[in-house]
Amino acid sequence: MIDVRLAATRLLASLISQQGSINSLLPEVMKTVKPKDTALLQQLVYGTSREYWRLDALARQLLKKPFQAKDIDLQACLLLGLYQLREMRIPPHAVIHETVELTKLLNKDWAKGLINAVLRRYQREAITLDQQLSQSSDIYHWNHPEWMITKLQHNWPDHWQSILIQNDIKAPLTLRVNKRLLSASEYLALLDEEGISAGLSELSQHAVVLAEPLDVKDLPGFDIGEVSVQDEVAQLSVPILAPQAGDRILDACAAPGGKLCHLLEEIGGQSTQVDAIELSPHRITRINENLARLKLDTYCQVLCGDATSSEWWDGNCYDRILIDAPCSGSGVIRRNPDIKILRQNEDILKLASTQLSILENLWKMLAPGGTLVYATCSIFPQENERIIERFCKLHTDALHQPINLSAGYSRPYGIQFFPKFNSHDGFFYAKLVKLDASGSSNA
Ligand SMILES: C[S@@+](CC[C@H](N)C(=O)[O-])C[C@H]1O[C@@H](n2cnc3c(N)ncnc32)[C@H](O)[C@@H]1O
Repeated sequence: MIDVRLAATRLLASLISQQGSINSLLPEVMKTVKPKDTALLQQLVYGTSREYWRLDALARQLLKKPFQAKDIDLQACLLLGLYQLREMRIPPHAVIHETVELTKLLNKDWAKGLINAVLRRYQREAITLDQQLSQSSDIYHWNHPEWMITKLQHNWPDHWQSILIQNDIKAPLTLRVNKRLLSASEYLALLDEEGISAGLSELSQHAVVLAEPLDVKDLPGFDIGEVSVQDEVAQLSVPILAPQAGDRILDACAAPGGKLCHLLEEIGGQSTQVDAIELSPHRITRINENLARLKLDTYCQVLCGDATSSEWWDGNCYDRILIDAPCSGSGVIRRNPDIKILRQNEDILKLASTQLSILENLWKMLAPGGTLVYATCSIFPQENERIIERFCKLHTDALHQPINLSAGYSRPYGIQFFPKFNSHDGFFYAKLVKLDASGSSNA
């Protein structure tokens, strides 16, 4: 077992040096600390990532010169110390003592005096520093990387401020109730019996939004597949795809299987054929675990395949295709705050190119009259409406169908959602129908 602050420091150092994400690293790191410390580890890692840009700006102000790349662990150690001083109810002398002791555990005793002096200076000058930085630094004020602030200001002149604010507020835990077993109201009654406070969703008929986050193993019926964790807006993929009995359906980019399982809860077994493809073999394990828990594994075929190629395809066209494309995740920063550390502006162009390739490739596999739904959890138009606009201009057989909902922002191509307080994530959907040779959609 290792010291919980040391574990958090190492993990944060990996994030800063772009070596993995919280999702990929935390599960293993959790096993290395005492069970009583796992909640603290999570709070330190998520909290420091959420506050990263503010803490980093403060550290730059407090240090005479930044740490060298080989001392990124000391940078992480300092940010964790600042986070605890600012955001946690731990006596400041204890925070400073623990953080200074960490330098020994990192085998960098030489930095003891430096860390001690910087944290003590922060304690003395916190109010002045906060005032100075709030006025002089957009990065500090908005707590996001500069490129993201600029991009959002440019993309969404009327929404950028609220997006940045919502990104830093924790998202609610939202569940999808398995309609094969019970309704959302029935599950709400079960939660009520257990003293768990929750409400129904205005967006999705199967969604239940919990008042407080909870470990899934403490949710009634989770083990037997009565519920799954899924945001409200992600639960719109199935009603928008509108699958019919007898359809041949493809769920492309399927892991961990949230939308696939929802689809199968809706129509699994109704003489449909559902194929799911996923590029990452490791992530296919997650699909299979979810299918098994929900007892849906007999209703679909899961293939390891690349959505930009046809190698895995048997040549039979699909009636419905769902593309939940790999994206920046800029709509789900409040759930994955490390996106603010890991994502770079250059990534967006590369992602857009992959997204267009996936769409181009899968369009060939859609039957005339068939429906394709393109989705991302991004709020950047480059990954969303501009992809669809470009695609429609290149393909005369692609008919864009507006999605009319009481929520979200209808765009010339698709519908955009922004993260909303105590409600849904940021998300994008567009719906295309393939015209047949006569130019008819049959839709
Ligand atoms: C947004 S996630 C999908 C989430 C999933 N649909 C759900 O609801 O749980 C995107 C997925 O696409 C996969 N992926 C990335 N590139 C791909 C490609 N070229 N072909 C197939 N899958 C890909 C990623 O590994 C990731 O699992």
